[in-house]
Amino acid sequence: MKTPWLILLLSSVVWAEEQYYPQSNNITWDKARLYCQQCFKELTTITSRNVHLIANNLSADYWIGLRRSYNGTLPWSKWSNEDPVTYQNWYPGHPVPNTEKKQPICPTTQTPLTSTTTITTTSTSTPTTTTMETSSFVANKSGDMCPILVDILDCLNMTYKDLESTVNSYTITTPKTTTHSTLPTSTTTYSTQTTPQSTTVSSCILEPEPDPDVYIEDSCVVLLSFGMWKEKVCNISRPFICYDDRFFGQINYFNVMKNNVSLSWSAGPSAKNISHYRVEITGDYNQTFNKTGLSAEIGNLTSGTLYRAQVFPVKCGRDLNPQNISFYTLPSAVMNLTVLNVTTVSAFLSWNKPDGNQDFYLVIVEDLIYGNNQTAKCPNKQCGITDLTPGVLYNFTVFAVVNQTTYGVPSSYSAYTNPSEVKNLKTGNNESNAIEATWENPNGYHSSFNVCIKELISNESISSECNCNEGSCNITNSMSIRMTALSSGTQYCLCVTALINSDTQPGKTVVSSAFTLPNTVSITSLVTYSTSMSVNWTIEGKYTKFHVKIETTDFQNSLRSDDTKDCYYNFASLMAAVRYTITIITFNGALESDPAKVIDYTRPTSARSPKATVNKMNITVSWEAPADSVGARINYTVKYHTPFWNEDYTLNTSDTHLTFPNLRSGTTYDFNITVVAGNLTSNPVSTSAQTEPVKKMLSLVMLCSSANKLECATNTTQEELYSKLYNLTAGKLDGVYWKLKWVDRKNH
Ligand SMILES: *[C@@H]1O[C@H](CO)[C@@H](O)[C@H](O)[C@H]1NC(C)=O
Ligand SMILES: *[C@@H]1O[C@H](CO)[C@@H](O)[C@H](O)[C@H]1NC(C)=O
Ligand SMILES: *[C@@H]1O[C@H](CO)[C@@H](O)[C@H](O)[C@H]1NC(C)=O
Ligand SMILES: *[C@@H]1O[C@H](CO)[C@@H](O)[C@H](O)[C@H]1NC(C)=O
Ligand SMILES: *[C@@H]1O[C@H](CO)[C@@H](O)[C@H](O)[C@H]1NC(C)=O
Ligand SMILES: *[C@@H]1O[C@H](CO)[C@@H](O)[C@H](O)[C@H]1NC(C)=O
Ligand SMILES: *[C@@H]1O[C@H](CO)[C@@H](O)[C@H](O)[C@H]1NC(C)=O
Ligand SMILES: *[C@@H]1O[C@H](CO)[C@@H](O)[C@H](O)[C@H]1NC(C)=O
Ligand SMILES: *[C@@H]1O[C@H](CO)[C@@H](O)[C@H](O)[C@H]1NC(C)=O
Ligand SMILES: *[C@@H]1O[C@H](CO)[C@@H](O)[C@H](O)[C@H]1NC(C)=O
Ligand SMILES: *[C@@H]1O[C@H](CO)[C@@H](O)[C@H](O)[C@H]1NC(C)=O
Ligand SMILES: *[C@@H]1O[C@H](CO)[C@@H](O)[C@H](O)[C@H]1NC(C)=O
Repeated sequence: MKTPWLILLLSSVVWAEEQYYPQSNNITWDKARLYCQQCFKELTTITSRNVHLIANNLSADYWIGLRRSYNGTLPWSKWSNEDPVTYQNWYPGHPVPNTEKKQPICPTTQTPLTSTTTITTTSTSTPTTTTMETSSFVANKSGDMCPILVDILDCLNMTYKDLESTVNSYTITTPKTTTHSTLPTSTTTYSTQTTPQSTTVSSCILEPEPDPDVYIEDSCVVLLSFGMWKEKVCNISRPFICYDDRFFGQINYFNVMKNNVSLSWSAGPSAKNISHYRVEITGDYNQTFNKTGLSAEIGNLTSGTLYRAQVFPVKCGRDLNPQNISFYTLPSAVMNLTVLNVTTVSAFLSWNKPDGNQDFYLVIVEDLIYGNNQTAKCPNKQCGITDLTPGVLYNFTVFAVVNQTTYGVPSSYSAYTNPSEVKNLKTGNNESNAIEATWENPNGYHSSFNVCIKELISNESISSECNCNEGSCNITNSMSIRMTALSSGTQYCLCVTALINSDTQPGKTVVSSAFTLPNTVSITSLVTYSTSMSVNWTIEGKYTKFHVKIETTDFQNSLRSDDTKDCYYNFASLMAAVRYTITIITFNGALESDPAKVIDYTRPTSARSPKATVNKMNITVSWEAPADSVGARINYTVKYHTPFWNEDYTLNTSDTHLTFPNLRSGTTYDFNITVVAGNLTSNPVSTSAQTEPVKKMLSLVMLCSSANKLECATNTTQEELYSKLYNLTAGKLDGVYWKLKWVDRKNH
C-alpha cells in the first residue's frame, strides 16, 4: 500500500500559484468561459486545496469551470481547463440524474482520478494524454521533480520506471472519494448528511424523488454562495469566477547610460490577450509608458541615480503581476577636472560636481613612466593625492561612483609632479671672471636643469633672499656648468632648478652664493731708494681698496702693511740694502684677489769706519754697517788688491769683519768694502795694511869714476846717485816693503 501515498505526495507538491477573480457581471457560462480565457486563464476549478480560498465570502452564485460534458466527454469528468475532477461538493441530490426512477446513484469510480490523466495535468494549453514518461512526472507546473519523491524512491529502492509500472497497474483510490460504495444499508445515513465533509465519505445516495430541480442535459456548475455545487442551465446569466496563474516574468536592463537605459522583458501569459505593457519608472522623477513590444528605451533619466522599473502586462485592463528591476544610471563625467597645485610628492585635484548624483569619486592615478597605479577614494570634489614620485607624469582619471562599483564616465587630466631639488650644489669661487658650479641629480625625474646667475648689488647681503630673477640663465643637461665672461670681484647668486615637462615646469630652486675674485693688480713700476720704495700698479675691474704690505726675512718684525685706494704706495723708513717682498691684494668689499708680489732690494749705502789690522801675515778687516742698515742682515763684498803683485781677491760676507790669512809678507793690501744688495753695490770704503816684512838684504856696490878728480868723492855726487837709485827703485817696488840706504864699506 505504499503507492497511493506516493501519488498523494506528488499531487500536493505540484502546485502553481493561482489567483482567483470573481466577476460580477451576469453572463452565460459560455461567455463567461470565453471571457475568462481572454482576460484570465480559465473559469476556475475547485480542488481541495483552493476551496477555502474561493468559497469564503461569496456574495452570489458563480459559474465555475465545470460542465457536464464537452463534445461528448464522459459526464462530469473534466474541468474546463482539462483538469480531472478530483474534488466535488455537490449540493445533496445534485446533479439531478437523467431518470425519474429512484435508484441509487453512486458516484462511481472516477477514472480521472487514476493514473495517467491525473499526473499529466498540463502546464500547456494542449493536454497530453500520451503515455507517461519520466518527464511527465517532472514537467508539472512547479517545474522540477519533488525532492521528497526522490527521497521516497530512494527509500523504496525503486526507479522511476518501477514507479510508473506500479502506478499503471493499480487502481488508485484517494481518500477523498470513495470508489466502492455499498449499498442500501448506508442509505439513511447519507440522506441526512448535509455537511461539506460528505465529499470525503462514500456518497451512495438513495434519492427519494427528484429534486424540484429537474434534470438538465446541458448543465454547468454553479458555486453556491455557501460553497456547495448545483448544476444549472448553461445559458442563463450570472456572475462567474475566473482564475489565472500568477505571472512571473523576467526583466532585464542593458545599455545603461547616463540618461537612458534599455529594458526588455518576457512576454506575459497568453500574449495575444495582452493589450500592452505598462512601464513605470520610479525614482527622482517618475515616468509611465504604454508599450506593446517587449522592450523600451527609457530616457530623461538623471545620471547616477537609482531607479526602479516595473513592467505590468495589461490584460483586459487588468495589471498582471509586475516584473521589477532596479538599476543605477551611470554617473556623469566630472567637469572641469584640473590639478590645482602639485608638489614634488602630491597633487591637489579639483573638479566640478557632475550632473546627477554620485556617492563618491574614485581617482585612478596612473604613473605614465612605470605604469604603477594607485587609487584614491574621494568624498568631495577636491582631493589631495599623496605618495607620488617627483618629476613624474601622472594621468589622473576621476570617476563618479554609485553603488560602490558603478563607475561613471571617466575624466582625465595629466600633470607632472614637480621635480625635487638638486643636491650638493657647490660653486668654485676661485676665478676672477668665471664661476664653476657642480651639483647632483635630484630624487625622482627631471628633464634638465636651469642654471641662473645674477649679480648682487654690492650692499645686498647673500642670504635666502638671494634669488635669480632677471638673472641670465642657461639650460643644461649636465650636472655642472661654467659661467664665463663675468665681472671680476663680484658677488653672485647662483640658482639651480631641475625642470620637467619639456623644461617648462621647474622644481624648487637651490640657491648658492658665488663670487668672482677681484683682479690682481699689475705692478707697473717699483722705484727703490736706500730707505724707501715706491710701487705703482694698475688694476682692471672693480675694487674698493688695496691692501699693501712689505716684509723681509733680513730682520725681525719687519712686516708693515697698509690699505690704500690709490694705485701707488710709498714705503718709507726702510732699511737700506734689504731684500723686501711687497704684496698687493685687491679687495672688493670682502672679496680679495690673489696677491701680486714684487721682490727687490733697497739701495745700499756705504759701510762705515773700515779698519785693517795686521797680525804678521794676517790682516783682519772690519767695518761698521751703514747707518741705514743697522740691525739688518746685509751682504758685503770685501775686495783686496796688491799693487806690487797685482793680485785681487774678493770675499763676500754678511759679517762686519773678515780675516785674510797667510798673506804675502811685507805687502801692502788695499781693501775695498762695498755693501751688496742684489745687483746693486754701494760706494766702497777703503782701507789698506801691510803685512809684516821678512827682510832680505841686497847690497849694491857702486863704482864711481870721473874725469874730474875728486868728483866721485863729493857728497853731492853720492847723494845724486842715491837719489837716482831711490827713484828707480821706488817705481818698481811700490807696494812692498823696501829700504835703500848707504852703508859704510869699511864697517861692513
Ligand atoms: C446579476 O443578477 C442578479 C440577480 O440575478 C442581480 O441581483 C445582480 O445585480 C446582477 N448583477 C449585475 C452586475 O447585473
Ligand atoms: C467541441 O467540438 C467542436 C468541434 O469538434 C469544437 O469546435 C469545440 O471547440 C469543442 N468544444 C469544446 C468545449 O471542446
Ligand atoms: C535495490 O534493488 C536492487 C535490484 O532492484 C537490489 O539489487 C538491491 O539490493 C536493492 N537495495 C536494497 C538496499 O534493498
Ligand atoms: C514616484 O512614484 C513613487 C511611487 O509611486 C512615489 O512614492 C514618488 O513620490 C513619485 N515621485 C515623484 C517625483 O513623483
Ligand atoms: C496607457 O494605456 C491606458 C489604458 O489603455 C491609458 O489609460 C493610459 O493613459 C495610457 N498611458 C499612457 C502613458 O499612454
Ligand atoms: C523627455 O521629456 C520630454 C518632456 O518632458 C519629452 O519631450 C522627451 O521626448 C523625453 N525624451 C525621452 C527620450 O523620453
Ligand atoms: C549594487 O551593487 C551590488 C554589488 O555589486 C549589486 O549586487 C546590486 O545589484 C547593485 N544594485 C543595483 C541597483 O544595481
Ligand atoms: C568649465 O570650464 C568652462 C571653460 O573652461 C566654463 O565655461 C564652464 O563654465 C566650466 N564649468 C563649470 C561647471 O564651472
Ligand atoms: C593646493 O590648493 C589647495 C586649494 O587651493 C590648498 O588647500 C592646498 O593647501 C594647496 N596645496 C599646496 C601644497 O599648495
Ligand atoms: C595602470 O593602468 C593602466 C590603464 O588603466 C593600465 O594599462 C596599466 O596596466 C596599469 N598598470 C598597472 C601596473 O596596473
Ligand atoms: C589618461 O587616461 C585616460 C583614460 O584611461 C586616457 O584616455 C588618456 O589618454 C590618458 N592620458 C594620457 C596623457 O595618457
Ligand atoms: C648660456 O646661454 C647662452 C645663450 O643662450 C650661450 O651663448 C652660452 O654659451 C651658454 N653658456 C653655457 C655655459 O652653456
